[in-house]
Amino acid sequence: MTRKYLVTGGAGYVGSVVAAHLLERGHRVTVLDDLSTGFAEAVPEGAEFIEGRIQDAGRWLDPTYDGVLHFAAFSQVGESVARPEKYWENNVGGTMALLAAMRSAGVRRLVFSSTAATYGEPESVPITETAPTAPTSPYGASKLAVDHMIGGECAAHGLAAVSLRYFNVAGAYGVLGERHAPESHLIPLVLQVALGRREAISVYGEDYPTPDGTCVRDYIHVADLAEAHLLALDAMTAGEHLICNLGNGNGFSVREVVETVRKVTGHPIPEITAPRRPGDPAVLVASAEAARERLGWTPSRPDLADVVADAWAFARLREEGA
Ligand SMILES: NC(=O)c1ccc[n+]([C@@H]2O[C@H](COP(=O)([O-])OP(=O)(O)OC[C@H]3O[C@@H](n4cnc5c(N)ncnc54)[C@H](O)[C@@H]3O)[C@@H](O)[C@H]2O)c1
Repeated sequence: MTRKYLVTGGAGYVGSVVAAHLLERGHRVTVLDDLSTGFAEAVPEGAEFIEGRIQDAGRWLDPTYDGVLHFAAFSQVGESVARPEKYWENNVGGTMALLAAMRSAGVRRLVFSSTAATYGEPESVPITETAPTAPTSPYGASKLAVDHMIGGECAAHGLAAVSLRYFNVAGAYGVLGERHAPESHLIPLVLQVALGRREAISVYGEDYPTPDGTCVRDYIHVADLAEAHLLALDAMTAGEHLICNLGNGNGFSVREVVETVRKVTGHPIPEITAPRRPGDPAVLVASAEAARERLGWTPSRPDLADVVADAWAFARLREEGA
């Protein structure tokens, strides 16, 4: 059945890929994005585009919408430490306005982009949804605050909602991929070395208690992530706030990522060893059990080489177009 969805942040990396998946399934999509970190050309063909802020969502949301997929947020951890007020205003204040607009328009279905950063330094891995939440940055804290806000909205006002706590999203979906500025994610940074835009990749810390001494992270292909959003829309129930981690359940070390990029690109990728960065946990790996049980989701692209190959194809496409 065709449904109509508002996709906030649909000109950004993850939002644009999810919007494309919704359109491919025959749904109608309106993207609401202020282009603060997004790109108008990333809005997939076939979507209606409103250039505007979620803080003003009440101007556009109306009862014809079946639900909202909410990606719009600031997500630079370092910036959030330097300018926490920017994160509270946009991520928390913006979502509060969005929820109020949904309430007045009677739009009662929401999928929210939460994050592994809500957990902070894990006590044990793989991380389950019942793990303590102790974010180590204002970014993580702002996302956790929104999770709590959504929980209250479900309990008090019958919203049906799913918070998806992403681990490291990576890869690309055809012409849609990662273009953060500044880029802080490992795979696109290593690919910049392969493209000759950066001389070497810095490896922060070689003395972690991991097999090769470098940090281990859980990389999830953005197209697998998009599938989880479609499943979430069907798995939600009025009055319930479901929280699911989204990761592969597999960890890859920084060295393994760099080595995979070497294999995929054929570039030697020089490394510079740097000291540990404060607040970087040794291992962050998701338990994907809840997503499997509650959403029926299993990642279909768990191989790191596939993730890197898609990201590389996208990076070269952008280089040719640049
Ligand atoms: N990329 C990851 O690895 C990752 C991991 C965990 C969680 N997340 C979450 O997923 C979501 C999407 O991340 P992304 O990597 O695609 O980021 P992104 O910066 O590419 O996309 C965010 C989009 O939201 C828009 N936006 C920001 N504030 C807005 C506002 N007030 N009104 C309207 N539009 C606004 C931006 O212009 C941008 O297009 C974010 O909420 C982020 O916190 C991402």
